[in-house]
Amino acid sequence: MGNNSVTTPLRLARVTLSDRASAGVYADLSGPEIERVLRACFGAEPTILVRLIPDDRDGIGATLRTLCDDDHCDLIVTTGGTGPAPRDVTPEATRDVIERELPGFGEAMRAVSFAKVPTAILSRATAGTRGRTLIVNLPGNPRAIGECLPPLLPAIRECLKHLHGG
Ligand code: MTE
Repeated sequence: MGNNSVTTPLRLARVTLSDRASAGVYADLSGPEIERVLRACFGAEPTILVRLIPDDRDGIGATLRTLCDDDHCDLIVTTGGTGPAPRDVTPEATRDVIERELPGFGEAMRAVSFAKVPTAILSRATAGTRGRTLIVNLPGNPRAIGECLPPLLPAIRECLKHLHGG
């Protein structure tokens, strides 16, 4: 069950990391933007699990582990917590969880974004795999989702095939 077969509908997750959005101080605009881009790419069939949690390294790690090991997600896309501020711990929490890092995802999103936004290089976003799950970090700015995620989709699709042994 879960993600053992490429014929099974994909199981996706979007995870927003933000102290303030999770406390209701402002609305989470980035998570729904991820969902919009994923639906445009993968269609209506995949399940998309939704999480909105504070910038806590252990809490992020626990959430990611559960999405991988219990919910059998094929792909988890996070947003937020990738910058240089003291509370930005998403890359560290991601590295706590992944077994193999895929640094090209972060390198590519910084490269494509730097051409448009000089501050793009402040994001430490990374990616990696845990079992058959691919985890990809994105910056927290809603506009950054549209700038960073679409260029990554061909590699995401290919990576999912590889993780399924195809
Ligand atoms: N990348 C894109 N494409 N567009 C942006 O507006 N913002 C940058 C960077 N990457 C940005 C971007 C800024 S200002 C920061 S601080 C970092 O992402 C980290 O953001 P985060 O901590 O919300 O993840």
